[in-house]
Amino acid sequence: MKITPEWIRGAKARGERVPALTAYDYPTARLLDEAGVPVILVGDSLGMVVLGYPDTTQVTLAEMRHHVAAVARAKTRALVVADLSYHTYDTPEAAVANARVLIDAGAEAVKLEGGVSVVPEIHALRGAGIAVMGHVGMLPQHVKEEGGYKIKGRSEDEKERVRADALAVEEAGAFALVMELVEPELAREITGRLEIPTIGIGSGAHCGGQILVTHDLVGAFPWFRPKFAVAKADIASSIRGAAQEFVRQVKEG
Ligand code: KIV
Repeated sequence: MKITPEWIRGAKARGERVPALTAYDYPTARLLDEAGVPVILVGDSLGMVVLGYPDTTQVTLAEMRHHVAAVARAKTRALVVADLSYHTYDTPEAAVANARVLIDAGAEAVKLEGGVSVVPEIHALRGAGIAVMGHVGMLPQHVKEEGGYKIKGRSEDEKERVRADALAVEEAGAFALVMELVEPELAREITGRLEIPTIGIGSGAHCGGQILVTHDLVGAFPWFRPKFAVAKADIASSIRGAAQEFVRQVKEG
């Protein structure tokens, strides 16, 4: 059965949790799909773990389109969601036009960062028939203004802002909500209040699902891994080891 945004929307009511992982290329998308991952995000985290940028702010729509097309060629059972990159959804019109580029490349839904401030863009996307995943809490596209990747929801003011953002995104028509670095008790409370599933990253165990950058899960980006991400494999060592063995064999003839 092909996974649809509506199927994900109903996950909480069915009592099911939603695992999600990122992919930026064809083989990874196929492998995740074969492993039974229901949601594959072509995240703009590709800026850091694939393209070598310091953060996600430089990722362009053309770069996103290129990687979405590669993932889409895997023709997965999993739902393919693509990030709208920074400044590609500054107005409702831009959000729709740029989301169409990603949908034409094979994405089945788009994700955008923000809460109350992006409600007009979510309405426009829904009006154009495009499924939307929200993203509240720490917003990586705003890391420069925020001065780093910090937990959201420690002060009462911040708690109220994250709550309002989450409720606004659901109300505007998103089918699921990523909560990044949200203080765990607040994440639990919001998860209880929303009908759509929350998908946490660094937000504790009580979200409706969890998402990770696959490079963090499989140890493929050894130079930095967030504290909350536990690696289940060590791909970096396997690659280094295989390359060293190849170098040795070639040199020895
Ligand atoms: O870009 C990304 O991979 C993301 C996830 C970490 C949620 O937005």
